[in-house]
Amino acid sequence: MSHSAKLVTRYTAPERVNHWFVTITFVMLAFSGLALFHPAFFFLTNLFGGGPWTRILHPFIGVVMFVSFMAFALRMLKYNHITPADKQWLARLPDIVRNHDDNLPEIGKYNIGQKYLFWTLIITIVLLLISGIVIWQPYFAPKFSIDMVRLAVLVHAFAAFVAIASIMVHVSAAIWVKGSVRAMTRGTVTAAWARHHHGQWYKEIAKGSGK
Ligand code: HEM
Repeated sequence: MSHSAKLVTRYTAPERVNHWFVTITFVMLAFSGLALFHPAFFFLTNLFGGGPWTRILHPFIGVVMFVSFMAFALRMLKYNHITPADKQWLARLPDIVRNHDDNLPEIGKYNIGQKYLFWTLIITIVLLLISGIVIWQPYFAPKFSIDMVRLAVLVHAFAAFVAIASIMVHVSAAIWVKGSVRAMTRGTVTAAWARHHHGQWYKEIAKGSGK
């Protein structure tokens, strides 16, 4: 950084460890799941010790990802309720994408895009767990009818598609909005970043009531 910018804490170390644990397990799931989904991705089974091991490990990694994601989501829940200021902010979207982002309504810790991502992930990851259990051979699948298993396969593929696409948007946005990635690597952002992107949150932490 060119000048000694004032830094504010955005994530504690346990929060960051939680986020990166979710990220690693999510990427492992996406790779092993795609390998099972289509032969074009079969080469990815090499990462997991071959075809049978990929098939065996995928659902277990899924359970670990679900638990760690829900632990992280619970920590972030209180910042993801949609407020009237979020709606006003969204109405200015054409200005935001043109980079005319001065004088926007002041918002809290997350913007409405981040909040939609949050809720999309909750829904898709719950759907992935439920449908994944229904199709999990040899433990649970035999307890369900064949029609149920077929429906669950469809739901699983659809939810995985939405979740993976959402994470691609999430990663692009994190890189696109300069000064964001350090929030998840070092836990801090500059005061200028906080004031510019999340004015209401900045005021709260400046007063000492936020986090
Ligand atoms: C390389 C991959 C990833 C990168 C670079 C990344 C980056 C980030 C960054 C920079 C933030 C902080 C945003 C802010 O404070 O304004 C964040 C927050 C967050 N990330 Fe990630 N992330 C990645 C993967 C994931 C994955 C795989 C998930 C879940 C499946 C996830 C879920 C979240 C959630 C829920 C938040 C909090 C935002 C909210 O609650 O609205 N991230 N991420």
